[in-house]
Amino acid sequence: MYKRYSKENKQRFQSNFWDIYWGPDEAKGDDKLNSYFIEIPEYNKIKTGEYRYIIGRKGTGKTAIIERLKSDIHGKYNFFYKYMSLKSFPIQSLRGMKDKSQGDKSQFVPIWTFLVLIELSKLIIQDQMAESSDDIIDLSQFIKSNFPSNLGFHETIKSLESSENKVSIFTKWLGLEDKTGNSKEILTQVHFQKANEILFELIKRINSKCTYYLFFDELDEGYSIGDKGLNLLLLALFRAIENIYLELKHQLKIRPVLALRSDIFENLEDNDLNKLDDFIINLRWTTESKSKYSLLDLINARINASLKVQDPDNAWECVSFNRDETLPYPVKSIWDFMYNRTFERPRDIVKFMKICGKFNYRGKLGFQAVKTAEIQYSEWFYKEFRDEIQSHLSIWQEATQSIIKLGKGVFTLDEIKFEMDKDSAIKTHLTSNNKSHVDILEVLFNFGLIGNLSDSNRWFFKYKDHNLPFNPDHKMLVHFGFTRKFRIRPY
Ligand SMILES: Nc1ncnc2c1ncn2[C@@H]1O[C@H](COP(=O)(O)OP(=O)(O)O)[C@@H](O)[C@H]1O
Ligand SMILES: [Mg+2]
Repeated sequence: MYKRYSKENKQRFQSNFWDIYWGPDEAKGDDKLNSYFIEIPEYNKIKTGEYRYIIGRKGTGKTAIIERLKSDIHGKYNFFYKYMSLKSFPIQSLRGMKDKSQGDKSQFVPIWTFLVLIELSKLIIQDQMAESSDDIIDLSQFIKSNFPSNLGFHETIKSLESSENKVSIFTKWLGLEDKTGNSKEILTQVHFQKANEILFELIKRINSKCTYYLFFDELDEGYSIGDKGLNLLLLALFRAIENIYLELKHQLKIRPVLALRSDIFENLEDNDLNKLDDFIINLRWTTESKSKYSLLDLINARINASLKVQDPDNAWECVSFNRDETLPYPVKSIWDFMYNRTFERPRDIVKFMKICGKFNYRGKLGFQAVKTAEIQYSEWFYKEFRDEIQSHLSIWQEATQSIIKLGKGVFTLDEIKFEMDKDSAIKTHLTSNNKSHVDILEVLFNFGLIGNLSDSNRWFFKYKDHNLPFNPDHKMLVHFGFTRKFRIRPY
């Protein structure tokens, strides 16, 4: 009897790496995300409104958090949400709606405030528990007469454009009573900034036990660092969201959550942002299992969602020959090999696994399959890097080419300078922008293409230590994720 039981049990365990489902590259719309989502330590404090801004590099899981919140909320009668993507947002029209009497970012705070208040109002009028009913009817009437199609931000902007920034409101909201006593029906036109004041007052009168989430994502679409105006727009959005939250938090449970790429965030120079520091989450992952933000746990969760392995806490060990003897010296494990080819971001490690899964092997994952997959992974990794760096360094490609031409995994400042000087585009860039070689290398360092190698042969990368300054006097090394694509021997 005992024997039979253990035999059955054995058969139930699976270790075929190629049966694992790794999911899509983007968290947006991933309907399996719940089965392998790793809760970050701050998750519950986003739900209570303590954290409102999620900052992280590309692929660190900003959208994943929003997707998870959406699915937590979905179908619950006392939660409402609106997802606002700034993808293909009519930025030009928005710029036209600035308040010319103000300077800098303050010009755009009123229009953002209006856009967000409108979306919030749309949530409130769906809420059956909100009171008083008279106020809700008024609010609902206001939305219906101005923005009837419920299409979100875009519609609001469009209709403001055609009405020359005016909206219809009840005269009684201005404190003007109609002599016929029929003031309810009378509408008048006011500028949207006036409507902001009125909406704030009206919303403050509303009571509800429900929670309203406002998600802002994909703000980085079409971002270019040189566009100072765009930076102001983003700063104004932060300010508008914070204002609305502070103004209404005692009356209503509103939960704005804004996700933004860290390279863009760091470029937004403004004293105001420091004040937000307590409400910001910086997404940074590490390798160690059982620690917070563990990428190994994240991979284990994906394996466990697909397979029933013998030891779920060590799922990775169950599906790989982690200490494969064919690993090159001094790499200790397949995990280390793969992990060192990422920027410690979920998307990188998942993508590498997924590419391994495309090749025709069976059983546990061995180093041979990883080596085969590395070529394709390195190509992909390079493109991810390009997406981030291109708006920060116009000659990123030429600079990278210099490293490829130099053909070494480790080099000195003099060596790379010599190579860069052969490139006319780099030379022009240096003179016309009054920059030095070190400035260019520093950008490559900040985005993780290169790291520093200390005299004791320890390597340092910015993504591992965010406060690390670039030291041009130390040797530099190419990140292992690129060496295959660049056809250079890793250090
Ligand atoms: N907390 C998490 N748990 C599980 N998977 C995650 C988590 N965060 C990110 N991922 C995965 O990493 C990838 C990138 O996440 P995504 O949210 O799209 O990144 P971002 O929006 O920051 O660019 C997706 O495959 C996603 O499923
Ligand atoms: Mg995203």
